[in-house]
Amino acid sequence: MRARPRRRGSRSLHRTQERRGRSVTGAAVRVDPETERARTPGAAVYRHFNAAGCSLPSSETLDTVFRHLILEGSEGGYEAATAAVERTSAVYSSVARLVGGSASEIGMFDSASNALRTVIDSWVFEPGSHIIVSRSTYVSHALHLMSLARSHQLTLQVVDAGPDGSIDLELLKAALSRAAGAPSLLSVAHVPTSSGLVEPVTAVGVLAREYGALYLVDATQSVGQIEIDVDAIGCDVLVGTGRKFLRGPRGTGFAYVRSSASARLARHILDVRGTVWDADKSWSSVPGAVRFETWEHSVAARLGLGSAIDQALEIGVDRINATIDSLAAPLRDGLSKIRGVTVTDPAAAASGIVTFAVDGIDARDAVLRLRSLGTRLTSVPASHGQWDLGARSIPAVVRASVHVYNREDEIDELLSEVREIAATTVVRGA
Ligand SMILES: Cc1ncc(COP(=O)(O)O)c(C=O)c1O
Repeated sequence: MRARPRRRGSRSLHRTQERRGRSVTGAAVRVDPETERARTPGAAVYRHFNAAGCSLPSSETLDTVFRHLILEGSEGGYEAATAAVERTSAVYSSVARLVGGSASEIGMFDSASNALRTVIDSWVFEPGSHIIVSRSTYVSHALHLMSLARSHQLTLQVVDAGPDGSIDLELLKAALSRAAGAPSLLSVAHVPTSSGLVEPVTAVGVLAREYGALYLVDATQSVGQIEIDVDAIGCDVLVGTGRKFLRGPRGTGFAYVRSSASARLARHILDVRGTVWDADKSWSSVPGAVRFETWEHSVAARLGLGSAIDQALEIGVDRINATIDSLAAPLRDGLSKIRGVTVTDPAAAASGIVTFAVDGIDARDAVLRLRSLGTRLTSVPASHGQWDLGARSIPAVVRASVHVYNREDEIDELLSEVREIAATTVVRGA
């Protein structure tokens, strides 16, 4: 008779699950803020609520950047790059592990905006082509698309949001069917700059495939805080930046470009990095998303990005997400209970970005008041999102964005500071 397996005690099961970053029910366990704070030098200095602007990097990421800069100083920049070549090529695999796809479908950039611009400028369109966008589109991207539409007489359709603030899928379907017959480009921001909204990018992907649109996802504000899988989303292109929820260095970004989209993105810029000048007046493109890159870049920053991504993967993006959610949700809720404060996030808000307005005080002044108290956050004006804030007649919002190095007591402190500002403003205005 085979011995029955010994039932593990619930305490030991609990401990094993927690070590794997899971609760006994399988849910992601929150990250320990003290561990994260210990490895984040900036966390001890201010209350930092600006992950959506530029988050605080870990010491490991900073060390990776410093070490390479020091090597450049002693060896020379080219020699240092040669010495780091295996580690720099591993960064492509790290991005692919983070968002899906293969390493050859990843191109590296210095920002998400440059990644988007470069890929869009490669798009092969025809007279009559449509550009279809969500209201969540980021300012630089919107400006680029408006200018492209204007100079090539393309039709630009901005799809309205539904009652919960996310893109209305019925209206999107109608927009895609209006565009049928010519190549169309559909672009959605996963999380916008101007609110905590999370767009239904997977449902959008189903429609993009149904209508054959080239589908771009701007994951600048979601990558690092929300798990991403380009195959589940069904996008052709996805871009991200290093310095926000990934906690990477400034001046880093990437694009995932699906290999099957090559023919539709054939007009890429010609640079020695991605193009071979093979004879007198002829050239050929190298395969993969590298063809979109330019040769010059900061090797130190790119290595820092790889390090930040590896750390995020080691922690688990699902755990980072659970932690961020456990901080953002009470912050949103607490703000909604303060007299004189309006939470400006739509109902579909579910990210680490929390936006609000304080009656009678300009968002920029509120940010300065909070800064003088040791709290760092930012404001977003309507000029950074006319299709969102402008359309909702909101001139500007205060934006607080949390990360794993924030503690619950910092949230409480922020709430009491906002309460104080709102109270003094209400008294002054009364
Ligand atoms: C939604 C969104 N997309 C794109 C960008 C631009 O990113 P980058 O500054 O890396 O170009 C931002 C920056 O705030 C953003 O919030």
